[in-house]
Amino acid sequence: MTEAAVPVPVAGVAMTAIGIAVVRARETERDDRLYSDPFAHLFVDAAKPSYGARWDELTPLLDMFYPARTVSVRLVDDRVEAAVRQGIRQIVILGAGLDTRAFRMDLPADTRFFELDLPETFAFKEPVLTRGGATPRCERHVLPVDLCGDWAEALLAQGLRAQEPTLWVDEGVLGYLLRPDAQQVVATLTELSAPRSRFDIGSFAVDPNSGAYLALRRLVSGGDETPRAAAGLGPYIEKWLHEHGWDTSFQTWAEQAAAIGRPDTDGGPETGNMVAIRR
Ligand SMILES: C[S@@+](CC[C@H](N)C(=O)[O-])C[C@H]1O[C@@H](n2cnc3c(N)ncnc32)[C@H](O)[C@@H]1O
Repeated sequence: MTEAAVPVPVAGVAMTAIGIAVVRARETERDDRLYSDPFAHLFVDAAKPSYGARWDELTPLLDMFYPARTVSVRLVDDRVEAAVRQGIRQIVILGAGLDTRAFRMDLPADTRFFELDLPETFAFKEPVLTRGGATPRCERHVLPVDLCGDWAEALLAQGLRAQEPTLWVDEGVLGYLLRPDAQQVVATLTELSAPRSRFDIGSFAVDPNSGAYLALRRLVSGGDETPRAAAGLGPYIEKWLHEHGWDTSFQTWAEQAAAIGRPDTDGGPETGNMVAIRR
């Protein structure tokens, strides 16, 4: 009997997660790898046939994004480990895509690990993981939600404890949301964040007119060139966070990459990650 076909996201923003799985698969094959994601190639192998010739459009784009993007995966891993060392036992990955940290990292079994993404992402992700025999190493909760809607109730219903500190991770999702939606996500998670909570915000494409960014947009939108309204958190997010009970610090990818053995990484002076800690 043949296996049922897995629905592969070949259009829309959910397909960007496949690009990042390619990044993690590529890193995993290196002798000097920064991390190992043994599941990344399962997603790549499952997705590739559905793309046909379009797969070749994805590869040069990934060459441009790869150096900073792969460094960011390792840095988020490090921050997940640090949060766990500090006693944090709930982690929320916003726009989790094909993230497999709940399976590949040595997390305490009582860690509550929440993955939020669109339903089409999990319609692809879950069967691929099941067929690959993947077993989570902690309490994993999958939430097929639109971050532009009301997701807080679902998160609380799945077991998030707002009175305990949480590590929130934005690794390449809020930049895709229109500005009011992205800012609302931060307002919502602020309400759910007890003191000592942490919020890791990755900043990737800052120039919406750069060649790489435009090519990515064309690929995701299927060729639609309509100018887009302002997206992402915007320039005043740091001020907003300060005013709403968070202390923040920012480091570029380049600064941090040197320390983990990738001194040539340069994502530009405004790309890096902000770490916010709830007072
Ligand atoms: C570039 S991928 C990053 C995925 C993952 N964080 C990683 O680093 O591998 C962006 C992800 O954001 C998700 N996403 C975009 N808009 C979303 C929305 N409105 N609600 C939920 N997820 C969304 C996409 O489906 C996709 O999985």
